[in-house]
Amino acid sequence: MTTLGTPLSPSATRVMLLGSGELGKEVLIALQRLGVETIAVDRYENAPGQQVAHHARTITMSDPDQLKALIEAEKPQLVVPEIEAIATPMLQQLEDAGTVRVIPTARAARLTMDREGIRRLAAETLGVPTSPYKFCDSVAELQAAIDAGIGYPCIVKPVMSSSGKGQSKIDGPADVQKAWDYAMAGGRVSHGRVIVEGFIDFDYEITLLTVRALDAAGRVQTQFCEPIGHVQVSGDYVESWQPHPMAPAALQKAQQIAQAVTADLGGQGLFGVELFVKGEEVWFSEVSPRPHDTGMVTMATQWQNEFELHARAILGLPVDTALKSPGASAVIYGGVDATGIAFEGVAHALQVPGSEVRLFGKPESFVKRRMGVALAHAADVETARRNAKEAASRVKPRKA
Ligand SMILES: Nc1ncnc2c1ncn2[C@@H]1O[C@H](COP(=O)(O)OP(=O)(O)OP(=O)(O)O)[C@@H](O)[C@H]1O
Ligand SMILES: [Mg+2]
Repeated sequence: MTTLGTPLSPSATRVMLLGSGELGKEVLIALQRLGVETIAVDRYENAPGQQVAHHARTITMSDPDQLKALIEAEKPQLVVPEIEAIATPMLQQLEDAGTVRVIPTARAARLTMDREGIRRLAAETLGVPTSPYKFCDSVAELQAAIDAGIGYPCIVKPVMSSSGKGQSKIDGPADVQKAWDYAMAGGRVSHGRVIVEGFIDFDYEITLLTVRALDAAGRVQTQFCEPIGHVQVSGDYVESWQPHPMAPAALQKAQQIAQAVTADLGGQGLFGVELFVKGEEVWFSEVSPRPHDTGMVTMATQWQNEFELHARAILGLPVDTALKSPGASAVIYGGVDATGIAFEGVAHALQVPGSEVRLFGKPESFVKRRMGVALAHAADVETARRNAKEAASRVKPRKA
């Protein structure tokens, strides 16, 4: 698709985002800049991306009938999943029927919405190094898996969950029942299956943004961004920076793993490959077939941020993954449970050198909901991290 149309006319290039949170919002902005007609879908009204798109639609995206009806009514050329909780078998059906192209592929969306699909693909089909793991359907199976070799410490996660929900670390036998109960309460759908993973005592973890885009001859080429380092607190990212220095041998292994996994998932677009690193050893953790939350830092660090890279790649346009400047991001949490909140201190935050603030415009705040992000570029990552955190801390969400 190298010809682009005029929005709101019969020639329009129409793209539908399934999920219109802060990441979808930036993809939509990137598409808008190329004159693409955009349809922002979410489960609630006035989602961040719906505020910047041509059309806003609110449905239950995990309901196959609602999803099919919407796609058939809107007739987008491309459907871009931005979240995991989508009726992916229906997307597969519509892709198979030639109704729509799913980004990067319907199969990639299906395999990555469930930890079992992507883990078995990476470890068992592709032979990529991962933590030792086992899937369990009861607390007895969980205990047996730990006793049979996973050992302590280990981590339990519902097979369908994200942002650390339902995830906990088990340090000894006394924690097993608690971890199981926590996983059952935190999964996206209540089918009682978990993955238990051996704990990897890594030196650091990175997100390797990997782009599959067309070259001048129309062939898919894989390109990598500089590694992004990040800090996770209870499974949720709080801080990220780019570039994260890596030993050449570790970087090479990381790129090989990312290449293998993304080539198998196929299609065009940007992927966030999550990897653990210890010395020169690298383990694959998981992959998002879409922009990654830790990659928000690229809004301050790259000539083309991860959202622009995704937009270009899916439209068949060339990409440039080059770094512009070292930089960092720090999350701004809601801090309060309230709707229509106010943000104090933005001017004070923007007095921090090289800083930027993005407020997502979410209609409802929760104490631990990500409501914005502070970004900073600087001559080095350490300064950028300090400045991004300082800027984030100066923004004070308040009940209006
Ligand atoms: N096997 C492991 N060993 C050590 N740490 C781990 C392991 N698995 C997960 N973690 C830690 O927990 C974090 C979250 O895990 P994971 O990415 O699997 O969960 P998630 O719910 O998909 O999170 P997100 O949606 O934010 O990516 C990881 O980034 C890492 O810091
Ligand atoms: Mg993760």
